[in-house]
Amino acid sequence: MENNIESLLKKLEEKYSQTGQSLAANLEGLLYNDYLKYWDYIQVETLLTLQKPKTSIPDEMIFIMYHQITELYFRLILWEIEQIGNQKDVEVAWFLDKIERINRYLEALVRSFDIMSVGMEAEQFKKFRMALLPASGFQSAQFRMIEITSTNFINLTSQEFRDKATPNTTIPEIYEHIYWKKGATETATGKKTITLQHFEEKYSESFMQLAYEYRDKNIWEKYKELENKGVDVSAIKQALRDFDYLFNVEWALSHLKSAVRYLRESGKPIDATGGTNWTKYLPPNFQRIIFFPSLWTEEERQEWGRKKVEALLQS
Ligand code: HEM
Repeated sequence: MENNIESLLKKLEEKYSQTGQSLAANLEGLLYNDYLKYWDYIQVETLLTLQKPKTSIPDEMIFIMYHQITELYFRLILWEIEQIGNQKDVEVAWFLDKIERINRYLEALVRSFDIMSVGMEAEQFKKFRMALLPASGFQSAQFRMIEITSTNFINLTSQEFRDKATPNTTIPEIYEHIYWKKGATETATGKKTITLQHFEEKYSESFMQLAYEYRDKNIWEKYKELENKGVDVSAIKQALRDFDYLFNVEWALSHLKSAVRYLRESGKPIDATGGTNWTKYLPPNFQRIIFFPSLWTEEERQEWGRKKVEALLQS
């Protein structure tokens, strides 16, 4: 015990002397330091001040908190993606561990989405949503950041645009054709929804910057670095397929289930707060956003949740 303290003191002495600080003064500081408490560390009280309903309808609290929970999971996913992007020499086991973490977060989100799709009273939802216009989950910046940092930017455009694009197509040109912009623009008049206008004013510049930053270090590019080393990447391929499917099909389907439950009257769709034609915009087989297209067969890419969407929309 004594030896252990001695060796710790030696290490501390070294640590502080390197920055020209005194060990004695820092030890004295310990005498007066208060003990750490759970509530201070986790910032529980601050966390619980962040729910600010717009109405006094009780179920709006569930709606706000589940969005916040989702944003925290998105942050966890981005935390892993940032580490992958910044890793100089990627190794199979390390990369696999990161993707498996992301997949666990997504599984938790997919499994819990019933908190939204069946966990609120439809009558309450239909009322409080009117106080939220024109805000929409469509404006989740972290959702877009996951998309931008996972795949090559061009994969977030329609097949039609991808077919025309060349290696010289620039990031601003791609951004003009990004799928979410198309989904919130009237084809005939070219008029953008107010939801999209607000979103672009706030985030367009930072999204394009992120696309530049991740052009050569998004998940797909990092995977290719590994593949080029000639190592066995079969387990990673499977994990990446799981990631692609969880984010772009399974999460999208759980989310669509909520829209089907709350945004239909007498079987007919009603307007969403973000103003998209949601029965067309939300189904994964309509946008067919695929992060890692070459990991899928043509048949799998064509299917992309189609049967499940059909069953859901007919329910
Ligand atoms: C009752 C629950 C929900 C309903 C009815 C719903 C409905 C919709 C609709 C209709 C859209 C299309 C845009 C629009 O016109 O507004 C949309 C987009 C979106 N929502 Fe939700 N939503 C719900 C919950 C959530 C939750 C909990 C999240 C989590 C952050 C979320 C995130 C998103 C995202 C990221 C988009 C854009 C999807 C894309 O562009 O592919 N939504 N939502």
